[in-house]
Amino acid sequence: MIKKITKAVFPVAGMGTRFLPATKSNPKEMLPIVDKPLIQYAAEEAVAAGCTELIFVIGRNKRAIPDHFDKAYELEVELQQRGKTKLLEQVQNILPANVTCVYLRQAEALGLGHAVWCTKPLIGDEPFIVILADDLIDAEPKNCLQQMVELYNKHACSVLGVEEIPHEDTDKYGIVSVKDVQGRQAKIETIVEKPHPSKAPSNLAVVGRYILTPRIFELIETNTRGAGGEIQLTDAIEKLLAHETVLTHRFAGKRYDCGSKLGYLQATVEYALKHPELKEPFQHYLQAYCLPPLPQTKSGK
Ligand code: UTP
Repeated sequence: MIKKITKAVFPVAGMGTRFLPATKSNPKEMLPIVDKPLIQYAAEEAVAAGCTELIFVIGRNKRAIPDHFDKAYELEVELQQRGKTKLLEQVQNILPANVTCVYLRQAEALGLGHAVWCTKPLIGDEPFIVILADDLIDAEPKNCLQQMVELYNKHACSVLGVEEIPHEDTDKYGIVSVKDVQGRQAKIETIVEKPHPSKAPSNLAVVGRYILTPRIFELIETNTRGAGGEIQLTDAIEKLLAHETVLTHRFAGKRYDCGSKLGYLQATVEYALKHPELKEPFQHYLQAYCLPPLPQTKSGK
């Protein structure tokens, strides 16, 4: 019988150096896209995909994320007294009542592989999801994790979310070579962390969505420090290939790399242009102040 996926891991203990000084005292996953922090978009995606236990691996800026998902008594009383019922509902319903949040501390930022390894006692012998919340993925009607869980439910093996990237960017991602391509799905042959474009096996990059089988923990334990001196998840996945099939899913949807300033700004603009209250005034603002004037017609109209 295929084990159901109910646990999602959110590694949020990175240094977020590309966003300093904004990330000096706040994790980058708390940066908002319009009015919701990145971590909430990620939590909602996992919950919609069937997860009921959310495990956050937190680091030195440890308070902001638990505070965000905790009950905020004073704020709720204040909103109630002011009759702001819509806002009150929003802060009360950050997550459905059947969802549990667990927080673990990664004492030192030793890398993504190490952050995932810290969750071993909580995951046990089950398949689980890993989400990097700074990869925001806009996908409808099924979100990226829902698409990947469907694949897992058919094959009961690890599944990585992938996308084609410009070849010159391979040194920013885990890169895979694949075989047995069937539509959006394929089998991984090799995986390598941040290869130089001249050495990259393809331009198919792993994005921040993983479904992993629990064997990954024993393989992370055998890791030495890899690219950038960190304990890399990619290196453990490479070892997993010797034991199990690992599939890729070329997700349907649009990814924003919100760990980079440009990707973050692109997401902010595009989500604002879809936001029910903001889309009209924001479009007018962009047209009036940010876009070149429309060419004049002959009549000057
Ligand atoms: P990144 O490679 O994006 O690093 O981590 P970073 O530190 O967050 O950001 P920059 O590059 O310095 O700007 C990928 C993911 O892994 C988590 C991060 O929080 C992010 O979600 N991570 C990374 C950890 O939880 N622990 C680590 O030791 C390293």
